Amino acid sequence: MFKDLEGKVVVITGAGSGLGKSFAEEFGKAQAKVVLNYLSDHHIPDVDASIRLIEEAGGQAIKVQADVSIEDDVNRLVNTAIEHFGTLDIMMNNAGFEKPIPTHEMSVAEWQKVIDINLTGAFMGAKAAVNHFLQENKKGVIINTSSVHDTIPWPNYVNYAASKGGLKLMMETMSMEYAQYGIRINNISPGAIVTEHTREKFSDPETRAETLEMIPAKEIGEVQQVANVALFLASDFSNYIHGTTIYVDGGMTNYPAFMGGKG
Ligand code: BGC
Repeated sequence: MFKDLEGKVVVITGAGSGLGKSFAEEFGKAQAKVVLNYLSDHHIPDVDASIRLIEEAGGQAIKVQADVSIEDDVNRLVNTAIEHFGTLDIMMNNAGFEKPIPTHEMSVAEWQKVIDINLTGAFMGAKAAVNHFLQENKKGVIINTSSVHDTIPWPNYVNYAASKGGLKLMMETMSMEYAQYGIRINNISPGAIVTEHTREKFSDPETRAETLEMIPAKEIGEVQQVANVALFLASDFSNYIHGTTIYVDGGMTNYPAFMGGKG
C-alpha cells in the first residue's frame, strides 16, 4: 500500500520485542531496509526471526545491539545504518521501559533510568537523525513511540508519565525547528495494546475488565493496529503532517468516565 517506503532505510530502536518487533516486520514487508536495534542477548532469537521473516518477504534487514540511553551507542547505531545501507530515511525512537513503583518509594536511580531510556534516548536518536537529514538535505522522518500517558496521568508510573509528557513537547518543539527543512517529526501514542509485555496483565480477568472500562471501543488493541499508523506516518501519504500525536487507543484519551452521560 505504501509504495514509497520501498528501499527506504529505517532504524527502529527496541525492535527485539513488543511494538518495535512488529514495526520492524511491517516495514520489512513494505520492502524497506530495516535496522533492528536490540538491547540484550536474550532478544537475539526474536530479532533473527524477524530478519528471516523480512528476508522471506523480499526485504533487507540487519541487527545492531545498542543501549539507547548511551549517546555513543545511539550514534554508533545511526552510523551503522548509514554505512551499511548508504543513508537513513526514517528514525523510529521506540525503545521504552516501564515498571510500577509508588512515587514515595521510587529512588532517583529508578526515576532516572526511565527518563534516560524513554526521553533522553529519543532525544539522542532524533538529534543524530536530524544531523544526518540536514547534512544530506533530506526530508527525513522521525517517529517516536509515546503513550496515552503523555496526557493521562498514571499513578505508580510517575517516571514513565513524565518521560512521555516530555516526549510530547520534545517532538513538538523539534518539529517546529525542522519542519522548514521538510523533516517530519511526529509521535504515535498507543493505549492498551497486547504485546509480550502486557499479555500477562491483560489475561487477568479483573485487570482486563478494569482496562476495558477505560476504552470506549471496548477492546484491547493489537500491535498491527499501531504498526499501520507507523507505516502511514513514515510514508508520503502523511507528507503534510508535522508535530502531531496520533493516539491509537480505542478512545482511551477521550474521557471514557463520561460515557454514561453524567457530570
Ligand atoms: C503502557 C501499557 C498500558 C497502556 C495504557 C502504555 O503506555 O505501555 O502498559 O497498558 O499505556 O495504560
